[in-house]
Amino acid sequence: MDIQWYPGHMTKTIRQMQEDIKLVDMVIEITDARVPMAGRNPDIDRLAGNKARLLILNKADLADEAVNSRWVSFFSRRGYECVLTDARAKGSMKAVTQAIENASRKKQERDKQRGMKPRPVRAMVAGIPNVGKSTFINSFSGKATAKTGNKPGVTRGRQWIRLSGKVELLDTPGLLWPKFEDQEVGEKLALVGTINDQILNEEELAIMLIRRLKTLCPGTLEARYGVSETLEEPAFMEEVGRKRGCLQKGGEIDYARTAAIMLDEFRSGRLGRISLETPEDFT
Ligand code: G4P
Repeated sequence: MDIQWYPGHMTKTIRQMQEDIKLVDMVIEITDARVPMAGRNPDIDRLAGNKARLLILNKADLADEAVNSRWVSFFSRRGYECVLTDARAKGSMKAVTQAIENASRKKQERDKQRGMKPRPVRAMVAGIPNVGKSTFINSFSGKATAKTGNKPGVTRGRQWIRLSGKVELLDTPGLLWPKFEDQEVGEKLALVGTINDQILNEEELAIMLIRRLKTLCPGTLEARYGVSETLEEPAFMEEVGRKRGCLQKGGEIDYARTAAIMLDEFRSGRLGRISLETPEDFT
């Protein structure tokens, strides 16, 4: 495995994840439903090896509902057990428990045939930053019947969250690094706020947001800001700034503040439920 290229702390994180994966039967990968492909790190396939897999499309509440359903079909056709969630909503967790059972059925049956006593499925959560891993684990543990103590061979501090006697979830998520060597992927991840500030400044990013939304969901920006979408992106932003009173001393438009407002309104769903990727982009 070529990990030389990654910074030191990433190497350590990967090593930790490799250790954790040895302890589990299943890897629950979380991605962002608005950018399900850009939000995944393809190296997870190698890291997870032949463990059972579950793919969670989280923040589904911020993504287009019709596109969400098409993504579930897309991943199901590729053999993934796949669930849409709003990790902040504990109600989402019932579907997750069911999906974990589905994804682990093969192993359970194999164990049974070998005459092994059934035991809970051990799972861990993994994903790139900000996809909702901690929120997911919190919602899950909110329903947990018990938190089990440290087990032999488990790093001190690691705990298992036991759910309904059938699932045990490692309390610490595996952190993957975002893959943004590709400009297109980097742009999408920056727009949803995963790699904020790392590759682009907010003003450039807001221009990109305007460009994308004009094509993806024509009329959305115009309806929200009362500014014509026929304007070029910089002129559009200027008008939004004027309308929102983002002015500097001397009456100049404060582009930084305008950009921050537009990005925040997109990320928080105030512009509506918008998916930046659709399965059709990948077929
Ligand atoms: P991480 O562990 O993967 O890094 O992500 P974390 O759970 O910290 O979640 C990152 C942000 O995304 C949090 O917002 C969290 O509330 C939000 N979030 C997580 N899951 C969902 C979801 O399904 N839908 C929506 N709409 N938001 C979700 P934050 O701005 O950091 O904090 P706060 O605003 O919640 O206080």
